Order: sequence, then structure tokens, then C-alpha cells
Amino acid sequence: MTTTLEKTLAAELAELRATGQYKQANVVQAPQAPHTIMDGRPVINLSSNNYLALANHPRVVAAGKRAIDEFGLGTASVRFICGTMACHEALEKKIREFIGCPAATTFISCWDANVGVMPTLAPTQQDAIFSDALNHASIIDAIRLSKAERFIYKHADLAELQSMLESPKARASRNKLIITDGVFSMEGDVADLPKLKELAEKHDAQLIVDESHATGVLGATGRGTAEHFGVLGEGTVQTSTLGKALGGACGGYVAGAQVICDYLVQKARTTLFSNALPPAVCYGSMAAIDVLIEDGAKLLAALKRNVAHFRAGVADLGLHTIPGITPICPVIVGETATAISMQKALLAEGVFVSGFGFPVVPKGEARLRCQISAGHTIEDLDKCLKALAKVAEKFPEARKRH
Ligand SMILES: Cc1ncc(COP(=O)(O)O)c(C=O)c1O
Repeated sequence: MTTTLEKTLAAELAELRATGQYKQANVVQAPQAPHTIMDGRPVINLSSNNYLALANHPRVVAAGKRAIDEFGLGTASVRFICGTMACHEALEKKIREFIGCPAATTFISCWDANVGVMPTLAPTQQDAIFSDALNHASIIDAIRLSKAERFIYKHADLAELQSMLESPKARASRNKLIITDGVFSMEGDVADLPKLKELAEKHDAQLIVDESHATGVLGATGRGTAEHFGVLGEGTVQTSTLGKALGGACGGYVAGAQVICDYLVQKARTTLFSNALPPAVCYGSMAAIDVLIEDGAKLLAALKRNVAHFRAGVADLGLHTIPGITPICPVIVGETATAISMQKALLAEGVFVSGFGFPVVPKGEARLRCQISAGHTIEDLDKCLKALAKVAEKFPEARKRH
């Protein structure tokens, strides 16, 4: 018997297929690297978060193997029962020294870090959360789990945030959190951290910055948005991922004041009721941080050069992008079906770029999210630009302003 649920779901999936919006897994048949194998053929990967090309770095891989030898595959426990191993303490020390903050605590993902933070630090109706409209989905869901009053300000509209903070309802609230992505994952723009800090301080709010796309990417030594703006180590809490620049495995963390991390360790449900990070991820991520500390100048210079080269190339092609300084360079093409068809056409040219549509981005703003790595060569990027030019010719609708 087919249930009503199954019929409803099947109809929705059929609709996605009929309108060209059905997502297919893009299977990678070799290690995650700027050059990899898909569909049995070599491709340049222009859509991973492997910003420093460390996911398959020999030191990172060797460290992961060493951890399996020392600690086995996993913890078989949450942190507070018997899932805290020496490798977790070593990783958290490494993170707090790298960030330059008093405390850090890890989670199985940055999704879980965000979902741990918001309902734990602002649990009641007396609390208030202020959030940028384009914050990552994990932040949106985390806010939904809190009973706090919600204030969603238009993307990057800090004047609106200010007036929300000044509203009588906000003034009367107890714990106030302002939460923002450091680098916005679909736009590639950077939050105005100095202004956000100023507003947070003025209104007795805790600023929380999700540094997932900024860690290992922004700042002279890759310490993220705060370093980029020269406001490192001053009262901000950051959440970030180990699943992007820092080795690309999985795992997230919260770094900041001791009292905040201590409280999360005691109360955040995503750490109390979910297993700790696998040891291989702990050692692998530590090795990635070491590579960043030792070779950061070279890696970050390559990333910066590549970002500037690729962004200039996209602008020269006259494609619709959002100017910026980060390795996330969206090419906005309009409809979801266009983005998905362009993705397929680019793959045929040996370039993998992921097409995103609604609900990941607003309707009518579907895009190819190009992501540049320090591991790309200029020749790789020129090949990608040539492929983009060729494919864009076949999709004139992609050139219209959206
Ligand atoms: C801004 C931001 N926050 C959080 C996450 C979730 O990170 P993780 O994969 O570690 O759960 C992502 C991942 O896409 C992200 O882009």
C-alpha cells in the first residue's frame, strides 16, 4: 500500500524532475583536490570548500592515519560520558592558540555548533536574537530552536539592525545575540565586523560570527574576518568548521570567552547527546592548522592571486557576479533549471561548478557558485573561464540582469 505521505513526496520529486531542479549527486571518484575525477574523467573542481587544498595534503592524511592507530576509529560515546579523548583536548588547545582566544570547544560539525549555541545562550522569550537575513541555513534552524524574540535584518543592513536594537522590545530583553556569517556562503561578501562589534558593545549584545568560509581564507595569516579587519581577539565569539579550509573533513567549533565555552559544554544539546569527533579528524585538522601556520604566507598569497585573477576574468566576460575579495565568486544566471543545465555543460568541458537554486538562494537568483582554491593554477582558472565563456554563449538568458 502506498501511503499518502509517499504519494505526496513522489509528486513533489516528479515536479522537481519535470522542471529541471532535481539535484543529482556529483560523485567524486578520487581524492578531493583542485583536480579530481568525475564521470570517469579528469575535471578541475571549481566548487569545493577546499580553499587551501589541504583535504588531501600528505601531512593531513598521515596525521589522520596516525590517530586511527593511536585511538581507533571513533569515540563510541558523547564527550561527557567517555568520548573525550586526548586528541580532542589537543585539538581544542590548537584551535584556541590559533584563534588567540581563551577557550574553544568542538562539535561534530559547524551545523551542530550553531545549533548548540543559539538555543543554549538565548533560550527564553526574555532573550533576543538578531540575525542577518542571508545567514547560513544552520543559523536559521538554530534560531528556530530558540524561544527568543527574533529580529531578522535585511542582508548587511546595519542601520536596520541598529533600529531593531534600539526598539523597546529589544531594550527590555535579557541575553542578546547578534549573529552573522563572516563571509556569506552564497554571496561571497564579508560582514562589516567593526560596525557590528560597535553595535554589539553599545547594546550589551554578544556578537557571534560564523567563520566557516573565512577561517584559513581571510586575514594576513588566515585567522578570518576579525584578522582581516584588525579586530582579532576582542570579545567576539566565533563558530567555524573544520570541513572547509582546515582539512575539509568535518567538525566544528565555538571559540571565545571561557565562560561561554564552559556553559556550552554543560548545556548544549548537540554536544551532550551526539558523539564526539572521530580521532582521525582531530589529528588531521591539527595537521591542517600546522600547515597553515607554517606555509600560510605562501598558501594565502596563491589564494589571493587566484581570486583576483578569476574574479577579473568573470568581470571581463560580462557575467553577472557580486564583486568582492573572497574565493566565493557567484555567477548569477536566474532560473534554477538554467544553473543546473549550465553545470552539466561545464562538466562536459572538464570543469565542475555547482549550480544552486531555490531554496538555497532566493527565487530568480540561481547561480553557479565558483570557489577558488590556492591549489588551482592560473592555467586551471583560464581553462575554467574559457569554459564559462563557451557555455554562457549557449545560455543567453544567463547574461540578463537578474
Ligand atoms: C556559513 C556556514 N556555516 C555553517 C556551515 C556548516 O558547516 P558543517 O559542514 O561543518 O556543518 C556551513 C557549511 O556549508 C556554512 O557555509
